Amino acid sequence: MVNEIKRLENYSVLAEIYDNVMSDVDYVTWTDYIDEIILAHNPEAQEVLELACGTGTMALSLEELDCYNITATDASPHMIRMAREKAEQVNSRIHFQTMNFLNLKLAQTFDVIYMVFDSLNYLHNEHDIIELHDQVRQVMNPGAIFIYDFTTPRNSRSALRYLNKKQMKVNNSFRYRRNSSFNPEKKIHTNSFYIERTDRKTGEAIETFHEEHYQKIYTLREIEKIINKTDFAILEAYDGFELKPAHSKSLRITMVLQ
Ligand SMILES: C[S@@+](CC[C@H](N)C(=O)[O-])C[C@H]1O[C@@H](n2cnc3c(N)ncnc32)[C@H](O)[C@@H]1O
Repeated sequence: MVNEIKRLENYSVLAEIYDNVMSDVDYVTWTDYIDEIILAHNPEAQEVLELACGTGTMALSLEELDCYNITATDASPHMIRMAREKAEQVNSRIHFQTMNFLNLKLAQTFDVIYMVFDSLNYLHNEHDIIELHDQVRQVMNPGAIFIYDFTTPRNSRSALRYLNKKQMKVNNSFRYRRNSSFNPEKKIHTNSFYIERTDRKTGEAIETFHEEHYQKIYTLREIEKIINKTDFAILEAYDGFELKPAHSKSLRITMVLQ
């Protein structure tokens, strides 16, 4: 029987399988990298805010270092629900909140605000990127830093083969397919997820969902130009997961701003 494909808002049913889809990502190393950046640029930092935290993997990993008080936010209530479930299992003290990073409403200010895994690429125009910086500025303590990464056109071209997945079984309840494409003229990277909820016994698809994720891909030059229109100064633009300067062949660039 062929199912009707239900088009969903981003990170709704994907939230259920997100950790499985990301199982190749080494969040522990990534957390250590963010911690290294904090130690290099604001070593006394205690109050930390994560934006676009997804299912909370990095916030929970950062909490294990026992150095920071962490608040973590994401626009998707489904991702936050998954994060809270994980947090409960480890008696975490992280405060998870559903929140659009273009409309931050927080009762405190922070020493570090960070956002990882190309969440910035979900912003498709200069106006929104500037708005993000304005929002962040309002929740910063004196001397605070803002850290975020973005992926480059070179990354989009080279990651296509890896990102295209034929059909992956998640557990007895889900399987998914990911189609990935990059439009170099428009600099739009599209990830289409077709997710099937399956019958536990027969493996037959019960429901099929579709999420279409569009990310705008930027060069370092473009991001620098936008930052220059904000109140932030660029402390560093790092290459990959190194504390070395980004360059023309960087795939992922991590900005450190003050
Ligand atoms: C690629 S995921 C990264 C999630 C998480 N940082 C990680 O490393 O797994 C992008 C996240 O950005 C969030 N996001 C996209 N636009 C957002 C916005 N305007 N405000 C807050 N979160 C947003 C999505 O809900 C999603 O959880």
